[in-house]
Amino acid sequence: MAIFSVVNQKGGTGKTTTSLNLGSALTMLGKNVLLIDMDSQGNLGYSLGLEEGPTISDVFEGSAEIKDIIQQRENMDIVPSDMRLVDIELSLMDLDDRHNMLNSKIKHLSKKYDYILIDCPPSLSILAVNSLYASDKVIVPMLMEVLSLQGLDQIIQTIEKINASYNKKLKILGILPVMVDKRRKLSQEVKDHILENYDVKIFDSMIRNNVKASEAPSFGQSVVEYSPSSNSAKDYMDFANEIVKLN
Ligand SMILES: Nc1ncnc2c1ncn2[C@@H]1O[C@H](COP(=O)(O)OP(=O)(O)OP(=O)(O)O)[C@@H](O)[C@H]1O
Ligand SMILES: [Mg+2]
Repeated sequence: MAIFSVVNQKGGTGKTTTSLNLGSALTMLGKNVLLIDMDSQGNLGYSLGLEEGPTISDVFEGSAEIKDIIQQRENMDIVPSDMRLVDIELSLMDLDDRHNMLNSKIKHLSKKYDYILIDCPPSLSILAVNSLYASDKVIVPMLMEVLSLQGLDQIIQTIEKINASYNKKLKILGILPVMVDKRRKLSQEVKDHILENYDVKIFDSMIRNNVKASEAPSFGQSVVEYSPSSNSAKDYMDFANEIVKLN
């Protein structure tokens, strides 16, 4: 059993795409998967064509239990979110144990699943800290561009702070290069820079730029389901195999 946060405070780095497609690919390998959306944009549930209903916001507000809001979709269970998370985040600010809200709601679930994947918002604010605190490991989907490096420093510092403040041993499992264009030389230069300057692993797998990945959400499907022979589906299957080997 492992709980992963899929984190990058930059917007549009493939966090949601990675959470749902890694999740879907892991189910194809026979694993039990729970996906949790911690982003008020609610992209995860929308992309998987979920019906509207109670969400993680209701759990934080105390009007529902997590088991009552889980939506089942083939082999994958999903905890959706909605816009109310914005207000909930504000109300958490005054609480002493504000970092522990998600952890306290999901820790009893850990025995039920092989993998729990948490799709984080594009920030390192309280909701992201909640996700990190509830996790064992971190996956960072990243565009291999120079501007991404600044963000990596901030992620590493945030994880160090959480570990120091709460006696955690959270670690970045790896950086996942996404939307990779193999014709561009810059990608390799950025990769080399990371390997030389940071103590983090870059996964062997990478996710190529592929239009099928962006089409799949319109059909309420993961790309692994929507277009199994596409580059994206192959890349996410490879990545799922790599994750299974590592954990
Ligand atoms: N491999 C890919 N090839 C082409 N397009 C992709 C790929 N991965 C993601 N996209 C597209 O890029 C956009 C951003 O992806 P996604 O929503 O997964 O990022 P995100 O990090 O979750 O964004 P946010 O920070 O807003 O939560 C989406 O339109 C998505 O369909
Ligand atoms: Mg997202």
